Formats: sequence, structure tokens, C-alpha cells
Amino acid sequence: MAIEILATGRYLPERRVTNDELAKTVDTNDEWIRSHTGIGSRHIAAPEQATSDLAYAAALNALESFAPGKAAETALTLDLIVVATGTPDYYGFPSVACLVQDRLGAVNAGAFDVSAACTGFVYALDAAAGMLGIGNRKRALVIGADLLTKITNWEDRGTCVLFGDAAGAALVERTDAPVTGEAKRGLIQSVLRAQGSGAQELKCDRGGTRNPYKDGETVDKATHIYMNGRAVYTFAVKAFTEVMQELLDREGITMDQVKKIIPHQANERIVQAAAKRFGLPEDKFFMNIEKYANTSAATIPVALDEYARTGELQRGDLIMTVGFGGGLTYGGNLIVW
Ligand code: COA
Repeated sequence: MAIEILATGRYLPERRVTNDELAKTVDTNDEWIRSHTGIGSRHIAAPEQATSDLAYAAALNALESFAPGKAAETALTLDLIVVATGTPDYYGFPSVACLVQDRLGAVNAGAFDVSAACTGFVYALDAAAGMLGIGNRKRALVIGADLLTKITNWEDRGTCVLFGDAAGAALVERTDAPVTGEAKRGLIQSVLRAQGSGAQELKCDRGGTRNPYKDGETVDKATHIYMNGRAVYTFAVKAFTEVMQELLDREGITMDQVKKIIPHQANERIVQAAAKRFGLPEDKFFMNIEKYANTSAATIPVALDEYARTGELQRGDLIMTVGFGGGLTYGGNLIVW
């Protein structure tokens, strides 16, 4: 029994903001952002959009690419919708997954969110795979969606240049394909890790039960991201290489058997450091941070969709995902296409 990806999809909000445009309102410049992060622009959702709007659009794109014109029919075949997000429409509940389930008309699907920040899609894919492995469930829609620009402190140049909004989706199915040997298919390994001791390095401090808004308090800013950039950078480089090595070791393979690595992209330099450590050419990684910045749980599924649509990815190719982020969390998947 294998858990295979049948189709992928993505959604980027219409509005694209370049570094130069950002530099009109924030004390920064294109040269600094590019040289320190590799980011050239980001997409920013419209004020009326919420995360479920992005997630729904990406889901529809995946269903359409699986069976054009039959998204509603395919939605009826879903047993599960899992959305990885750190920026849900509503505090606590309802989940984004339930909102997407309703809009798709996926009346046979259970729906829930996964909170693992930028590692969310890696976790969600593995969660969905595990749940498809028991009972009579067959199909799941796994979505990574985040709308970070609504929780960005636009006065903090150390963070506001880093983020963008997006959603990516994968339609996943339990099949009879083998998971070992030459003909193996689908998700064959996942590494899921957490380092909760670093929880305070990357967080949204206000609004939760630890630090709720109080009656009568004047709130001049919505809850926003706080990040200790240096600490997260150090963690990320270590986490990234650890996950890559563990995935290889578990499967007993070497990196030359992996066709492409689909990394979380928070800073191009983190990927470059990992490439150097493994002696890999940079084109071993599928990169799109220049266009989209860090879109958190959406980064990996959006990149996976873009890569799949290049036509380069052939059935039987081995790909690796690697993620890291708030929690702190990190992890990766090995997938045979
Ligand atoms: N534009 C211009 N200058 C900026 C700037 C900006 N947007 N942001 C910071 N600077 C300045 C700082 O004020 C500082 O100036 P100073 O030396 O005069 O004090 C200088 O640039 C260096 O700042 P520093 O924070 O040390 O830069 P850095 O090289 O560590 O890069 C990050 C900062 C955030 C890009 C980097 O730490 C990083 O990528 N961290 C990990 C982020 C991450 O992965 N987050 C998400 C995890 S999912």
C-alpha cells in the first residue's frame, strides 16, 4: 500500500510587491534584501482575503489539474482535508480545513488544521498518509496555506521584508503500489522533529491564552511575528542538514539518488549553507524565494506544484522536502513520484 500524490495546485494573491516598492514605506532597499535573503518580491493578499480563501483557491487548482472541469465530483471523493497553517481565519476554531471543506462541497471529508508553522506541510502530509493507512479512507487533500502579511509588523524592517502570502495543495491517494523495491511509489519516509525549547525565538506574542488582550486595553497593532533572526538562522542551518542526512540514512540511499530537494525557503543563504555542507550544486534545490519570499506552510507545496509543472519530474523520480520553522519544528519527506 502506497500513499501517492495524484495532483498538485497553488494560489498566489494577485498583488505583487517588489523590494523597491517596499522601500518606499520601510527603511530598507533592494540590495540589502537580495544580498541578505535572496528575496526580490512577495505576493500580498487583498484586505478582504483570509487564509481559507487562499487555501480554497489552491485546492481547486489541484482538483482541476487532476480532473479538469470535475472539481466538484472529485471533492465528493475526499475522505480528509488537512490544512497546515499558522494564520487561520479564526482564533482556535473553526479550522481553515472546515471552511475549505464547505466551499469545496466535500461532504464526505473530515477536516482539521495542523499547526507546525513553516514545517506544516511536511507534518500534514505525514499525518494524512498515516490516516489513509487505516480504515477505509482513500483520498486526502493536503494544503499548506499562510497569510503572514496580516500578522507582520510593517515597522520592523528585520522581519517585514521576509514574508509573503500563498497556498499550495496536494491531492493524495492510498494505492496498491509497493513501498519497497524498484517499483516503490509515494511517501516512503518522513522525519518529524520539534525543539520546543526554542519556542520563544519565533512567535506571535499577543492574543493567545498566555498573553490575551485585556478589557480596556488600547491595541494599536494586531498580533504580529516576533523573531530572533540570528537564533532562528543558526537553528535552521543545523535542522536542515540533520533532516537531509536522516532521510538518506533511513532509506539507505545517497544524495545522487534524489532528483530534487524542495526546501522551505526563509532565506536563500540557509539553503546555500546546506548545499555547501553536502557538497551539492545549488540547482539540486528547487528555489522560488526570489518571487515569493517566505510563505511559511505554503512554501513547500507551492514549490512542489511549480516543479511538477515544469515537466522535469518523471514517474519514479525521488524527491525530498525539508522544512523548519516556528515551534520550533523541523522535518522532511522522501517521495517517489
Ligand atoms: N533592510 C536594511 N537593513 C536591515 C534590514 C533591512 N530589511 N534588516 C536588518 N537590517 C540591518 C540591521 O539593522 C543591522 O544593521 P546594524 O549592523 O547597523 O545594526 C544589519 O542590517 C544586520 O542585521 P542582522 O539582523 O544582523 O542581519 P542578518 O544578516 O542576520 O540577516 C535575517 C537577518 C533575518 C535575514 C537572518 O537572520 C535570517 O534569515 N534569519 C532566519 C530567518 C528565518 O529563517 N525565519 C523564518 C523561519 S521559518
